[in-house]
Amino acid sequence: MNNSGNAMRKINQLMIRLLGAMLAMLFTVAPAIAASGDAENGKIIYEKRCIWCHGGDGDGSGAAEKFLNPPPRNFEDGQYKFKTTGFDDMVPNDEDNFRMVRDGMPGTAMPGWKALLSEQEMWDVVQYVKTFAGYEEEKPETQIDYGTQIPTSPESIAAGKKLFEDGDRCVECHGKAGKGSATKSLKGDYKERTWPRNLTKPWTFRASNDPKDIFSRISTGIPGTQMPSFADPKSKKKLSIEERWNVANYVVSLAKTKEVVDAENTVIKAEVAEGDLPATTDDERWDQAVPSTFLLVPQIIGKPRFFKPSNDTITVRAMYNDKAVALLLEWDDRSKSIPGDELAEKIGDSPISEDGVAVQLPVVIPTEMEKPYWGMGDATHPVNIWQWKSGTTKAPETIALSNAMGFATIEKRDAAASGLQIKSSYDNGTWRVLFTRPLSTDDAEKDLQFAEGRFIPVAFAAWDGSNSESGSKHTMTTWYWMLLKPAPSSMPLAIAVLVMGLLLGGLMWWARSAAAKDTENA
Ligand code: HEC
Ligand code: HEC
Repeated sequence: MNNSGNAMRKINQLMIRLLGAMLAMLFTVAPAIAASGDAENGKIIYEKRCIWCHGGDGDGSGAAEKFLNPPPRNFEDGQYKFKTTGFDDMVPNDEDNFRMVRDGMPGTAMPGWKALLSEQEMWDVVQYVKTFAGYEEEKPETQIDYGTQIPTSPESIAAGKKLFEDGDRCVECHGKAGKGSATKSLKGDYKERTWPRNLTKPWTFRASNDPKDIFSRISTGIPGTQMPSFADPKSKKKLSIEERWNVANYVVSLAKTKEVVDAENTVIKAEVAEGDLPATTDDERWDQAVPSTFLLVPQIIGKPRFFKPSNDTITVRAMYNDKAVALLLEWDDRSKSIPGDELAEKIGDSPISEDGVAVQLPVVIPTEMEKPYWGMGDATHPVNIWQWKSGTTKAPETIALSNAMGFATIEKRDAAASGLQIKSSYDNGTWRVLFTRPLSTDDAEKDLQFAEGRFIPVAFAAWDGSNSESGSKHTMTTWYWMLLKPAPSSMPLAIAVLVMGLLLGGLMWWARSAAAKDTENA
């Protein structure tokens, strides 16, 4: 009794001490460290962790530089993009850089360091980075004036939308739907290609889509890029503090989903369509189909490899009936790349190529939960590839069918003979491409024969022709599954089979344990 009472008291004391230590860290330690970041120690950390990208002289010319867009920051120039000092103040707050180092910059190669470096080490390295531009003694002179934050409301969002669109203020670059479907080609200060952010995808924001962060960006712009400051009195499109809060609230409202992919929903479930399959990309029945969204990553397995993607996700819906299956692919692409089109050539990296998308399916549905080799099948796992290309001003869009057993063994086939059909549309930064194919074809040796209730591996690829993507330079997903869900009418049979199975299993177990009992008793 006494012993356990002592132990309890000890644990209580420990807890109180721990709490105290944590509070102390929160309120005192962080700012104290901030003021005393040690540049000398920061140099050691920098040369171990940061040099590969930012270079020994801090000029952004590390070994990884040629693979990265945006390029690693050149610290010698002293220009910081995500800062909260005034729009005409070059010098950032230490807290601004600390935050980027701690959390990283989504959508770029800049990693977050909080798992690898302690708070102290992060302040140290921030202090060291300042020395490249001779900022160690500099203090920022101005700060963003946030005034009083206007909380979000339907009125504020409506007012923000108006300002966003007025005189093409934000629409000029971010497009009417906010997807970054620009009307002009944008370059950063180092002549690197930049794309306006797709504001419907908050997970690609370098800072966050918290209204305060968006307010900061609208106020300072993004230095080194063409994203301007709207607090600058010299700007014809200047916004007051109140207006900036309204625009920020509108931008927040554009977010489609908080997370990139819904981990619960990575199997594409095709439901049975009543009657004919949807024949267009905007058929209302698509709204009923559950969308699955997948990450697109650059193709780096086959040569030439590709490192600077602009498309990042693709969303797929599917339906089928007793004759055919329809797959609707939807992805955001900032430009409709039609070679020969004047605007498209102006926005893209000229000469542009066609936009494109492809679906990869095994020729034979595997019996186990086994998927074909990641990059275009292999000798024992041949794949079907359906590929759509957007066409040029001289030639219409195309659909191609091929069979592959790895990158080197590709056989071109006749898409029409297999009944493969296509429909496409482009609207305000979004492509939709609809593939339709009969469930079965005449060439069962070479074409996948779709079957109900089976898990069918499927993978996707996309090409952004305005981003120098063609041939093996493209983005792709890994393998996922597609399932043609059995129609409700055939469910009772499936359930009956299941129940029978369970019953039989139960009977056998009972028989076996009864037999065991018998031997025990004997
Ligand atoms: C794998 C490459 C890579 C590594 C390693 C890396 N960075 Fe970066 N860093 C980048 C890229 C790319 C950018 C530019 C992103 C942009 O311009 O949007 C960047 C930008 C920055 C910025 C600018 C933030 C701003 O608001 O403008 C700071 C500060 C920074 N890095 C610090 C560091 C520090 C400190 C380390 C090491 C602890 C480090 N980086 C390691 C790639 C890297
Ligand atoms: C002249 C073109 C242009 C205009 C006009 C423009 N932007 Fe941008 N915007 C950009 C570019 C380019 C980027 C990406 C910069 C980069 O590479 O980080 C960007 C990025 C952003 C971001 C991303 C912030 C983050 O944390 O990643 C937001 C939010 C944003 N803009 C909002 C707006 C709003 C709101 C307006 C109108 C008030 C606007 N922009 C006007 C070009 C523009």
